Amino acid sequence: MKERMIVAVDGPAGSGKSSVSREVALRLGLTYIDSGALYRAVTWFYLEQRHGPLDASIDFGRELGAIALTQEFLPDGSSVTAVNGTDVSASIRDEAITKNIGVVSDAVPVRNFVNSLLRRWSSSRSIIMDGRDIGTVVFPDADVKIYLDASVDVRALRRIKEYGEMGKTLDENAVKNLIIQRDSQDKSRPFGRLVRAEDAICIDTSEMTRDGVIEEICRIILEQSATEPTPRERQ
Ligand code: DC
Repeated sequence: MKERMIVAVDGPAGSGKSSVSREVALRLGLTYIDSGALYRAVTWFYLEQRHGPLDASIDFGRELGAIALTQEFLPDGSSVTAVNGTDVSASIRDEAITKNIGVVSDAVPVRNFVNSLLRRWSSSRSIIMDGRDIGTVVFPDADVKIYLDASVDVRALRRIKEYGEMGKTLDENAVKNLIIQRDSQDKSRPFGRLVRAEDAICIDTSEMTRDGVIEEICRIILEQSATEPTPRERQ
């Protein structure tokens, strides 16, 4: 393994990015960074402050100086994300966050704020980071770029199964519509939109098992790690 590896994993919601990236990190001894959790954490901060829905008229840049974000990747593969010392790892998964995150993650000052943190956290260690714009904006010269995809039907079924395991029943059509809506939001954002980097390796996971995807990504990383230095390493 090279001394410092940057692995970028992008893809739409529900493609399995987070779950497979965590496992790849554990297997290869990388630190996993969940960029989506940071956008969720900033959204949590503004919702706490305003006690009401967020809209695009809010100046999200103004209070960023009051937000201290931290994220720790634990040996069991989970992450703890905190805002000003408060552990928000569970609350950032609430429906209210998902409903309000669009206007927050569209705001350029928020994107710059998150991106500079992501780069700082990656400056001295090997990482695997998932998101929407990691291989295009955050680390355009990443050592390995993966674009994970899966059909809307498969992503919807996975989500329904995930919730079923927690004892919750979801309506299939409603889940599909939400996925289509999030895809469109992620792909049409003016800055940092979801787009496959030209040099990303695309893996369609629709017909693959989770373990198969993990093994494929590990294989790609190890193969890359044994090759020529990247432009970033030569600098
Ligand atoms: O991956 P996730 O579902 O936790 O991401 C939450 C939201 O944050 C999602 O609506 C898209 C946005 N996001 C983004 O704009 N850029 C990233 N690098 C990661 C997530």
